Amino acid sequence: MTTLVYEPPVAQTSYIPVSVMTLRPDQSLGIALFLREPGARSYFLYRDKGIPLNASDLEGLQARGSTTLYAKSDEFEIYQQYLRGSLDSALADESVPVANRFSHLNEVVRDVLAESFHRGETSGAVTTCRNLAEKTVDLICRKDAVASELLGVMYHDYHTFTHSANVSFYCTILAKSLGISSRADLHRIAVGGMLHDLGKLDISDRILTKAGTLTSAERNIVKQHPRTGFLKLSRRHDLSHGQLMMVYQHHERIDGKGYPVGHVGSEIHDWGKICAVVDVYEALSSNRPYRCALGQDEVFRLMGRDAGLALDKDLIACWMQAISTT
Ligand SMILES: [Fe+2]
Ligand SMILES: [Fe+2]
Repeated sequence: MTTLVYEPPVAQTSYIPVSVMTLRPDQSLGIALFLREPGARSYFLYRDKGIPLNASDLEGLQARGSTTLYAKSDEFEIYQQYLRGSLDSALADESVPVANRFSHLNEVVRDVLAESFHRGETSGAVTTCRNLAEKTVDLICRKDAVASELLGVMYHDYHTFTHSANVSFYCTILAKSLGISSRADLHRIAVGGMLHDLGKLDISDRILTKAGTLTSAERNIVKQHPRTGFLKLSRRHDLSHGQLMMVYQHHERIDGKGYPVGHVGSEIHDWGKICAVVDVYEALSSNRPYRCALGQDEVFRLMGRDAGLALDKDLIACWMQAISTT
């Protein structure tokens, strides 16, 4: 008689990318950092925990084009704590290039939104967004902040928290480009961008990350999210009408064929239109479960096709101009 012996599965070490731009010289992260050569599948130890990188290490990485190191997934939380703890000093350090500071802020916003959304508690999420939006506006309003450089350091995965962080940054850049100069309004718009998809938190990951075509029942569930988010937030007294319309109207179309109501152009709040333009841009230029990110030319072509139908054509033109590298 054969005896079957249970063998527990061998735990696979997984690695999570760490942007080199977020690392500051002579500060110990308390975690080991790994490198992976382009095209290689294996990781090798670059720096053991407790040994900080110095300025020449960072220059060396930059010279060889290594923009990403890796941390073991079970130590990633320590890296996130390092990012949060050093955010204020990194943002205030004038010796750090603006794009690096933005990369640091982007990491923290993604992480904090992920945690806040996961907790599912609206009040805490709004407070968190307000705090992060202030730092966002401060950075984007700097004279030396170049939109195309900032876009280059952002993540483009399909997670709702990454998308919300990006839409917030984009909304702020577009609003500023449109001539909105009031810090208070830019701050409100940045907060609205972070919250615009709050209603998606009630949708199961099975639907949100489904690789295949959604059924019509699943599509109907997804289409509820602007209304769900609006209802969650509309009882609050600390959000403006414009912010609530960013949540409620960001899937409305100029031609009235959007959702959840089918408002036409003149019925859509200007901030809802801003959110709609950058929401589409973000979705097309990010990796999705069902397709890879599209290149900027293709994104612009698709958005141009929708100009005046789904999206406000003047806002599209302003957005293209704002992020154009030439
Ligand atoms: Fe949405
Ligand atoms: Fe969205």
